[in-house]
Amino acid sequence: MPYDVPFVPTPEVVVRRMLQLANVKRGEVVYDLGCGDGRIVIMAAREFGAQAACIEIRKDLYEQTLRRVKDLGLEDRVHVIYGNFFEEDLSEADVVTMYLLTSVNERIKPKLERELKPSTRVVSHDFEVPGWKPLIVEDLYEEWRSHKIYLYKILGLEIPVPVSDLEERLKSVQLNEKYLEVLELIDGNRSIEEISYKMQLTIRSVRNIVSELMKQGLIKEVRVVK
Ligand SMILES: C[S@@+](CC[C@H](N)C(=O)[O-])C[C@H]1O[C@@H](n2cnc3c(N)ncnc32)[C@H](O)[C@@H]1O
Repeated sequence: MPYDVPFVPTPEVVVRRMLQLANVKRGEVVYDLGCGDGRIVIMAAREFGAQAACIEIRKDLYEQTLRRVKDLGLEDRVHVIYGNFFEEDLSEADVVTMYLLTSVNERIKPKLERELKPSTRVVSHDFEVPGWKPLIVEDLYEEWRSHKIYLYKILGLEIPVPVSDLEERLKSVQLNEKYLEVLELIDGNRSIEEISYKMQLTIRSVRNIVSELMKQGLIKEVRVVK
């Protein structure tokens, strides 16, 4: 099968800057499209405390990355997938990194727009995503040439909506204080991003709390406005 992009590694200094610009936080999920030798996911796990995954279509590179991950004892924090990134589910990502080509970015764009949650950051080395407006474009001189980093954010809001008989249902449910504080902020207008900001929690942990509250029958739905 022809590969969409040849293997060219991103210099380590550029990788670190990409992850910094994307503001990767401990526990967040980082996906790299095309592992290469695994340097992006390895740094994301080791230096940023992320849960990382990468997808690689070339068997030799997949095996090389898997070996590095095992040698470093990172198997529980880095998931190496042998496959085509056009066919894998990316919806768990908080951050997506790419070093592809403008033409490939253009082809993957509809999948990113469809699958990624609002507030997911997409950071691309050297090639822009045509039609998207970057939050930041940074130039870095490294290994005898200039490297561009494009940072994007998936726009839109996820708005949790409480059930109409919340008061009644709360009488039969035991919730800890943090869950109660989150629930108090859920009014069908506030977004998960706003709640995470107010509570000083990561978006991921607010999403987890919301899905737990949903299981308990206290949240009716999460409206997604893209
Ligand atoms: C330019 S390299 C970047 C490697 C790494 N992300 C980095 O920045 O150091 C692109 C990688 O994507 C892989 N690749 C190309 N097309 C792919 C596809 N459709 N699915 C998965 N991997 C692919 C290539 O084999 C190569 O390892």
